[in-house]
Amino acid sequence: MNVNSVALALDDNAREVFHGLTSLPKRLSPRLFYDAAGSALFEQITEQPEYYLTSTEQSIFERYAPEMIRAAGEASTIIELGAGTARKTMLLLRAALGFRRTLTFVPVDVSRFALEVAQHRVRSELPQVAVHPLVLDYDRQSSTLAQLSGRKLVLYMGSSIGNFEPMAASALLRRLRSSLARGDSLLLGTDMRKPVDVLLRAYDDAAGITAQFNLNVLARINREFDADFDLSRFVHCAIWNERESRIEMHLKSITDQHVNINALETSIHFASGETIHTENSYKFSPWMIESLAGNSGFRIEQRWSDERNWFTVALLRA
Ligand code: AVJ
Repeated sequence: MNVNSVALALDDNAREVFHGLTSLPKRLSPRLFYDAAGSALFEQITEQPEYYLTSTEQSIFERYAPEMIRAAGEASTIIELGAGTARKTMLLLRAALGFRRTLTFVPVDVSRFALEVAQHRVRSELPQVAVHPLVLDYDRQSSTLAQLSGRKLVLYMGSSIGNFEPMAASALLRRLRSSLARGDSLLLGTDMRKPVDVLLRAYDDAAGITAQFNLNVLARINREFDADFDLSRFVHCAIWNERESRIEMHLKSITDQHVNINALETSIHFASGETIHTENSYKFSPWMIESLAGNSGFRIEQRWSDERNWFTVALLRA
């Protein structure tokens, strides 16, 4: 079988694994992190003292949620992209209920499991909110969103947009814009540039949770594609790429080795020291947020930060 006929027979994940590991340099999509174990590890990352992103964004919402809701025009439908378990969202939903008695919440995620947690959380704590979870990938979400009625507020938090290269990030927001009406809003959370030692620690915590999170993608491939990655022969690396303004995560092979991926009928060679690039996490300066908004048909209406200016939540108007 040639490459194309293999690829054609495969689902999205299989194609990504096959293409990524047969490319040079090798890469894997960060989307693959989030199986059940990976989603749980990510939750644990957000509780590590070095991972300031979650707590900093949370502190911004604690302080400004009512102001944000008012600025967004008291929307009747709140849609959250990459909602996960929606822990941080509760503050915004509560603030929104301060302005209106009924509210629809549409958490969107690729993880069915996370959405069940989100739905349960909202239904038990805020029974006035109608929850309609959507299991969707970014490629499929815009047409579905366009069918929702009323004034919309979209939440895209946690600097998840930072996983995408600038062109892809603009394309994603442009597609989102096309599913919104003029006057709808997007609250976009972005992690800002800051001293490099702070960034590196956040992506290589002392407890080793981020390392486990990164390595888990190999365990997932072992399980789902009958592969034989030896996790003790790879190490987690986090590096700062100044030119691209991003943290990169890699998995480095510490020996010369072959890995069989039986379900893909392929064997992958790793030289000693060779890496798989598993994630980019862009760190923004104000002009990067402006150009992202401008390139995708939104304008920035307002922004909120913490005292250190480590994280920003911007209100983008469609
Ligand atoms: C969920 C994409 C925002 O880039 O900080 C955490 C994922 N990677 N630690 C991030 C992640 C390593 C996270 N995002």
